[in-house]
Amino acid sequence: MSGITIIGTGHHVPGAPVTNDALARVMETSDEWIQSRTGIQQRHFAQDGEGASDLGAEAAKNALDDAGVEASEVDYIIFATMTPDYFFPGSGPLLGAKLGISGVPALDIRQQCAAMPYAFQLADALVQSGAAETILLVGAEVHAGFMPWTDWDVVRSESEREITPEAYQRATKHRGLAIIFGDGAAAMVLRKSASPDGGFIGAELHSDGDSFDHLFVSGCGFRNIPYVSSEALLADEHIPQMRGPSLLKKAVKTLSRTVKSLCETHGIARDDIDCFIAHQANDRINQAVRNALRIPPEKIPSNIARYGNTSAATIGILTDELRHDGTIREGDLLCFLALGAGLNWGVALLRL
Ligand code: UT7
Repeated sequence: MSGITIIGTGHHVPGAPVTNDALARVMETSDEWIQSRTGIQQRHFAQDGEGASDLGAEAAKNALDDAGVEASEVDYIIFATMTPDYFFPGSGPLLGAKLGISGVPALDIRQQCAAMPYAFQLADALVQSGAAETILLVGAEVHAGFMPWTDWDVVRSESEREITPEAYQRATKHRGLAIIFGDGAAAMVLRKSASPDGGFIGAELHSDGDSFDHLFVSGCGFRNIPYVSSEALLADEHIPQMRGPSLLKKAVKTLSRTVKSLCETHGIARDDIDCFIAHQANDRINQAVRNALRIPPEKIPSNIARYGNTSAATIGILTDELRHDGTIREGDLLCFLALGAGLNWGVALLRL
């Protein structure tokens, strides 16, 4: 039985790139450290007032054009973000309005960097059940709002002024987190594959709330009354806390194990997979997964150098680039893999 497949893709990143050297003006870090520890060379940041639904709408228009599908043909929106425009409502309805298709059901999902394997399973189930035919899947993030600096003119290279020692110290305290994230959006148009054994094959998904404190925002949430306070903001509790090294080890272990397990479930040899489209949190994670699974380097492409970690947008941006540069083509067997806050992680197999 055929599953959902990708019939169009698009992406959008905001503004000019921000280099590692630009970040080194506001915190103690260096281009050498960031590149050697993560593979990142630059990232993009949205402007104040620009939300995930704005970036998502641009990516969605590109994906619809690419698919040759009118917005009015979309009958379901899945919007993946951990940085919505508003605490509530979700960004999905806002995106629908921006595309002129208010009324279409719009579901926000909260799987953070692991969103895409979850979204493929969900989209396939919606189509198989008859609830939807043409799904617009969007992953979009604006992390700029939790960056640990206020000196945006310096970060954006609009000014060469010195920042205060207090501001420098504050940003340095959060440098492990601040250097890896960037903003962006990606969209995919999904429909049932026309080929009898094409499209979504299966996914293996996991969550582990025992490890939620590996990456979370402690200060804003409805377990607090009020859910956000000036004390929390002054203590920088709106900035995510991340246990980077432990997360890195967990990502390598769980993703390698889950790829093996899903391939076994479906009787697929890893050599038969044409491309592993992995979340881009840190090149070292993907290199270690590559070594553990003996994947040839050309089968696990990377674009982290240009965007950093764009959370829910990452896999979509990479998929869009790979479709358009001809790396992946119709008929290819793709393996998507990602881990993010929650913790959530998952792997999905899809024949394009
Ligand atoms: O997508 C969501 C999931 N997120 C992830 O998967 C993130 C996974 N983790 C990582 O990518 C890495 O752990 C980081 C990039 C966050 C950090 O790299 P690391 O190699 O694990 O560094 P570390 O945290 O073990 O720190 C090593 C040293 C420390 O200094 P000391 O204590 O050895 O003197 C840090 O203070 O590097 C220092 N450091 C930095 N130095 C310069 C941490 N961040 C920076 C920085 N620039 N930006």
